[in-house]
Amino acid sequence: MPAPLRLAVLASGRGSNLAALLAAQAAGRLPIETVLVASDRPACQALDVARAAGIPVAALRPRDHRDRAAFDRALFERVAAAAPDLVVLAGFMRILDGDVVAAMPWPMINIHPSLLPRYPGLDTHARVLAAGDAEHGASVHLVTADLDAGPVLAQVRMPVRADDTPERLAARLLPLEHALLVAVVGLFACGRLHAAPAGIQFDGTTLAVPLVLETSSDDADPTAARLRAPGARAAPGAGAG
Ligand code: GAR
Repeated sequence: MPAPLRLAVLASGRGSNLAALLAAQAAGRLPIETVLVASDRPACQALDVARAAGIPVAALRPRDHRDRAAFDRALFERVAAAAPDLVVLAGFMRILDGDVVAAMPWPMINIHPSLLPRYPGLDTHARVLAAGDAEHGASVHLVTADLDAGPVLAQVRMPVRADDTPERLAARLLPLEHALLVAVVGLFACGRLHAAPAGIQFDGTTLAVPLVLETSSDDADPTAARLRAPGARAAPGAGAG
């Protein structure tokens, strides 16, 4: 049995994506050890989720640091001390300093509520509706120095309905986000997904287009959904399907 994947999670808010990772782990579907949850908002719910699970936390206030780079260096010193294999941004709502990101020795992934490259940044649900899109979704991508612009690893898609509001879209997308993040972390944990300098490797080949999360509206447990390469059959694997 390989050692569990050491995860550091950065979060700023409610922490539902963090909770989904922990629930999948508790259910025996995700071989991870969450070694740190760090936040820029000391009062955020994500830190409560972590504390309740007995996970070490770090809370750093941006205003206690000289500038963005100083805050990010302090934050990532804490992350480095936890020796993670993978860093997950799960609702971490700060832009990171490019030099700090470029110097990072571990892969870092972010969950974003849109079908990137469409709608980087904020208010994605309202922007999807304003554009009249027929489809919405979420992406997990590698974090690079540019906001929401790193290579996309995997996506989940869902139709936009005529009576959708930003709130309804957000509520319908959230469980799919959770499923997507759990599935991607699962692929890292079982060694099937690697962020190599030559490109993203999935099952030993370079990933040319994002993996797709297969969902079914009658899935009792959406976090059991599976990731597949477009055009391929669903791939079995820890938590990832
Ligand atoms: C999620 O919807 C996530 O996709 C989004 O913040 C929310 C965090 O929810 N992230 C971004 O918008 C990043 N650009 P959570 O705190 O309940 O996990």
